[in-house]
Amino acid sequence: MSHIQAMTLPEYSKFDRWAGNVRDMATIYRPVNADEEAEVMRLWTTVFGDDKALFQSNQDSEPNRQLHQTLVAHDGERIVSTVQYFNRHTRMLDGTVQKMGAIANVATFQEARKQGHSGKLLELAIDWMRKDGCTWSQLFTGVNAHYERYGWKTIQTRYREGTLASEAPVVGSWRVVPVNPRSDSKSLAQIAQVYDVYNANRPLTHVRTMLHWEKAVMPRMMWTNGVTYTACEGDCSKVSAYVVCKTNDDKLFIQEIGYIPGGEDAVNALMALVHELAVHRNVQIVRAHLPFEPVVNDALGRLVSGIETGYYRYMMARSLVDSLSQEDVEKPFAMDGPHFWPLDDF
Ligand SMILES: CC(C)(COP(=O)(O)OP(=O)(O)OC[C@H]1O[C@@H](n2cnc3c(N)ncnc32)[C@H](O)[C@@H]1OP(=O)(O)O)[C@@H](O)C(=O)NCCC(=O)NCCS
Repeated sequence: MSHIQAMTLPEYSKFDRWAGNVRDMATIYRPVNADEEAEVMRLWTTVFGDDKALFQSNQDSEPNRQLHQTLVAHDGERIVSTVQYFNRHTRMLDGTVQKMGAIANVATFQEARKQGHSGKLLELAIDWMRKDGCTWSQLFTGVNAHYERYGWKTIQTRYREGTLASEAPVVGSWRVVPVNPRSDSKSLAQIAQVYDVYNANRPLTHVRTMLHWEKAVMPRMMWTNGVTYTACEGDCSKVSAYVVCKTNDDKLFIQEIGYIPGGEDAVNALMALVHELAVHRNVQIVRAHLPFEPVVNDALGRLVSGIETGYYRYMMARSLVDSLSQEDVEKPFAMDGPHFWPLDDF
């Protein structure tokens, strides 16, 4: 009698790992094949109903990603479920830059759900992220319980919201202009320089390559009626500060801000244009996804009144290595200063 024949059914249906793949009786869990990219894209657009550009933007921003970063469940006929991760270099509380496994595109076709496909792929992704040297992992979700089973914990994140002040802040001597980051590559590069300075020591921020700016961040600056303003002095050879905002229904969202030393006052000047934009778009409520730090706090206080802090519960994170405790992973999210920028979403 062969070894397989001798197995009882429950033993046989246990997941059998070899060569990085996991197999059960009918379905194989494995890295995507190079010629299956169109098939996984169809799965994502079917399940999420989103524009292909949303998925493509993050794919393109990590050109060196490996096939094993997209894990699929194949039922013998087609791919029925996927989990993907990107390697994002993030700044840590101890000042180091470490690799974070950014979990994305977790999807199972409706008719293949509740068979454990996604769970098995998440377990496989944890193995692969560790092999890739990721020390922790982050994701965004509305189905938190799905991930809790596999070790991710919900992290409460803060935002601030208030009503547009009756009077606009003052521009002063700053030259503040709207820029189109899609057509103005020089301005995008200047903004990237300001980002690097402002976030040089800011935990939770991503180290962005210029390619990441062009492929992932820039489209997000444009989506949902996005508007970017820069502030500069004199001949504008150097940008001192920038702000990115968007409007959605009745709210204006401030997505990102940055300034260099000496540009603190330019943030107030930018807020004057944000105020003007809100008036122009007939929006009264402003929600700021910005770090809690003195310059931003002051500028926000001039733009809106009745500021209140609100909380999201859609972010989750987990440690992947013994040298970084779960507590260490969660700590910076509750601190003033550290910040995850929404333009880095995945
Ligand atoms: C979330 C999603 C990916 C889960 O996929 P899935 O393959 O059904 O996931 P699993 O089978 O591993 O787990 C789903 C449920 O089935 C249960 N389950 C797992 N194996 C099972 C089995 N053999 N028999 C019955 N139930 C089972 C799990 O316990 C889980 O239970 P819950 O509903 O109480 O949480 C899927 O529902 C989906 O694509 N949703 C839409 C997109 C989405 O929301 N993605 C997440 C974005 S962050």
